[in-house]
Amino acid sequence: MISNRLKISKRMDLFISLALPGMPFWDICCDHGHAGIGAAKSGLFTEIHLVDQLPHVMRNLEEQVYKLSPEYRMVPYFFYATAGQNINREVSGTCLIAGVGGFTMKLILKGLLEEGNLKAKRLILCPHTDEVELVSFLETPGMIQEYELAERRMIAVGKKMKPLFILNSKV
Ligand SMILES: C[S@@+](CC[C@H](N)C(=O)[O-])C[C@H]1O[C@@H](n2cnc3c(N)ncnc32)[C@H](O)[C@@H]1O
Repeated sequence: MISNRLKISKRMDLFISLALPGMPFWDICCDHGHAGIGAAKSGLFTEIHLVDQLPHVMRNLEEQVYKLSPEYRMVPYFFYATAGQNINREVSGTCLIAGVGGFTMKLILKGLLEEGNLKAKRLILCPHTDEVELVSFLETPGMIQEYELAERRMIAVGKKMKPLFILNSKV
């Protein structure tokens, strides 16, 4: 349960600090939604889009967001109870996908790309598993045409180190 105020973890803060200001912030596979909620509080983004495939997760999150103190609600929120690959509108600004495997990230990005909905200027990807699967997808012609790898680094997730990829749109 999110209280009126929220302690945002260092990992979420890092994601927010890497996002492009003045544009929408998409948190796909959001679960607790802390990245999106922290982004809202920062005041740096124009819209907050929270996406998770589990309807009950999204129902709870939406209820909880409206109980938060006003500083978290200064920008419009959009809630989607859907798999990321089925989002049926353009994903713009920064698109964060964290805390799922590279295979799921590939499914989501591929689905968005094929429908012409992957319009984010920056992708921030932090897979927990299947890094090789993700990297080989990032190197496919469809992705290479649209995105270039700006940075890959390792970050601490609990006691483990996980890769973090930042890709910028070429267009
Ligand atoms: C471990 S949580 C990650 C939460 C947060 N992003 C983080 O990094 O702490 C994974 C979430 O991804 C969601 N998920 C898994 N596959 C998904 C997909 N294809 N589309 C949308 N959400 C998905 C799950 O329902 C779950 O809530």
